[in-house]
Order: sequence, then structure tokens, then C-alpha cells
Amino acid sequence: MKAVQFNEYRGPEVLKIVEIDEPHAGPGQVRVAVKAAGVNPAEWKIRAGLFKDFMPVEFPSGVGFEGAGIVDEVGEGVTGVAVGDAVFGSGAGTAAEYAVLNYWARKPDDMPFDVAGGFSVASETAIRSLDYAGAKAGETVLICGAAGGVGSAAVQIARARGMTVIGTASAAKHDYLRDLGALPTTYEPGLAARVKELAPQGVDVALDLAGAGIIPELIEITGDASRVLSIVDFTAPEHGAQFTPTPQENPEQALAEAARLYSEGALRLQVEKTFPLAQIAEARALSAEGHVTGKLVVTVS
Ligand SMILES: NC(=O)c1ccc[n+]([C@@H]2O[C@H](COP(=O)([O-])OP(=O)(O)OC[C@H]3O[C@@H](n4cnc5c(N)ncnc54)[C@H](OP(=O)(O)O)[C@@H]3O)[C@@H](O)[C@H]2O)c1
Repeated sequence: MKAVQFNEYRGPEVLKIVEIDEPHAGPGQVRVAVKAAGVNPAEWKIRAGLFKDFMPVEFPSGVGFEGAGIVDEVGEGVTGVAVGDAVFGSGAGTAAEYAVLNYWARKPDDMPFDVAGGFSVASETAIRSLDYAGAKAGETVLICGAAGGVGSAAVQIARARGMTVIGTASAAKHDYLRDLGALPTTYEPGLAARVKELAPQGVDVALDLAGAGIIPELIEITGDASRVLSIVDFTAPEHGAQFTPTPQENPEQALAEAARLYSEGALRLQVEKTFPLAQIAEARALSAEGHVTGKLVVTVS
């Protein structure tokens, strides 16, 4: 099959389409014929070698953590899904004609495959972040980095769960944030004062989805370090805040909730741009610039 691989730590130019053996579904997994695969910032960081000291890559390495497609193999012990079902989910090496998923959910019938390809990481991470921070209905949540993939999902899920949401993004994206249901503000210095104007009642929970080094300020804004959570800033625990690096124990549950919210019209995912597999290097380069609105997706078939 065709798959994208890289053989050394460097820029996106090292991504190559190669012919390799197809993977097969092991116990607890499914294999899909991939239609679309999401692009995530962790991929360019891993490829550039930023994580090599604690997460070394075995070369040659595949690319892609999530995707959507048609199930064509069901691993031992898997129930509730059959060959021919359309699913989205997470695995490894999803930028390929076939990929193995470790967890998944049924794709809503009205969800296009390009949206489904980028739906798993954003929605699971958003739900995990809100849950770990203990965000509840009636509370006010500050979401820093609200216009990216995870942020866009987090804003809408928090709104669907009955929270008031303040989101940060550059000014040009404030209409986008309003459409998602957030009260927008910029991420320039002086965030605490602007947030106070938008939420005189105070902020209960703050999520750092951008990693801009603002954990102490977020603790000041909430007044409670335990209700500040980052998905990017490894130093968060040094300040008493939480850091969550990986999916939770029941990611399928999060994906099922996200699929349900999509079907109810409460959770949408804007795909900023789709790229054919042959242009995967361009997709990763754009992701690395750090200003994607919603999600970038690579289409495979
Ligand atoms: N720990 C985990 O489980 C986990 C899971 C998924 C992702 N992540 C990490 O979480 C981060 C977000 O992921 P993503 O997929 O949402 O990324 P993304 O889609 O690439 O995020 C891009 C967005 O970040 C915004 N942004 C850039 N600098 C900002 C700042 N200083 N303050 C606020 N917003 C800013 C941009 O808005 P503007 O264009 O307006 O600047 C843009 O809309 C990445 O670093 C990723 O690696 C972690």
C-alpha cells in the first residue's frame, strides 16, 4: 500500500510516499481503508525532533494519528462494529491507504469524510480537558487557543454542556469564535483585565490549548491552580496546574459523545483546507505556522 513515512528528524521535505506492507488489525483494533486523515501539530514537532529526548522515533516512521474510513478488518475481541462500517478514530500511521485504529466511533451519516478524518483528536482532547478540569454546567470557562482544532471543539462542547465560554484568538478570528458560541478576546498582554470585563462573575476553569507560557496568569484569573489545565505546557504541574499529554482511559466514550453532538448539530468542525496525500508536506508546513482555523485534513481516497 501507499503510506507516508520519514527517515530522519528534519523539515516537511523528508516526508515521502512509499510502498510498504499493509498493517493488520490486532486484538481490540480495527483496520480501515482510509478516506481522510487529520493533521495535528504534534506531528511536525515529533518530525522536527522536538520530542526526541523523551519520545524517540523509530525510523522509518509513519505519519498521522487519526483518520476516517471504511472498516475492512475487525480484530479479535472487538464487538459493535463490522466490515463495511464507516468510522472515525485514532491510531498510528493514518496517512496511508490502510491504517489500524485503536479506538473509534461510528461516523454520523451526514458527516463528510474529510471532517471525520480530523474529528477524533480535537473532540477527544477537548472532552478530556474539560473533564479533567472539572468544568460543569453553569460555570465560566476561559479557553486559550480557541480557534484551533482542539479549541474549536472545546468551545462548542462546553457550550453544549451549559457553560459560558470566553475564547482567545487573534482579532480576525473573533467572528469565527462568536459563531462557535464564545465571547472572544485577543491573547495580547492584559488578558486578566479583558477577561474581567467579559466575565464580571469570575472564571471557574481555564484551559491552555496554545502553550503560550501563561499558566501563572491563568491561575491568577481562576484563583485556583487545580482548575487550570494545559495540553501543551509541560511546566503546568510546577505551578500546581494540570497537564494532560495523552487520551483518557475511555476515549471511545468521548468519541461517541462527540459524534452524538455532531448529529444534534451542536458540534461542527471547520476544515480550513484539505490536501491530497501527495501534498502532505505542504499540509504539515502550514500546521507548523500555528494559525490554523479549525482543522487541516489530508484526503487519501
Ligand atoms: N496533550 C494532548 O493530548 C494534545 C492533543 C492535541 C493537541 N495537543 C497540542 O495542543 C495544541 C493545540 O492543538 P490544535 O490541534 O488545536 O492546534 P492548531 O489547530 O494548530 O491551533 C492553531 C490555533 O492556535 C492559535 N494560537 C496560536 N498562538 C496562540 C496564542 N498565543 N494564544 C491563543 N491562541 C493561539 C491560532 O490562533 P491565531 O491564528 O488567532 O493566532 C490558531 O487558530 C498543539 O500544540 C498540539 O500539539 C495536545
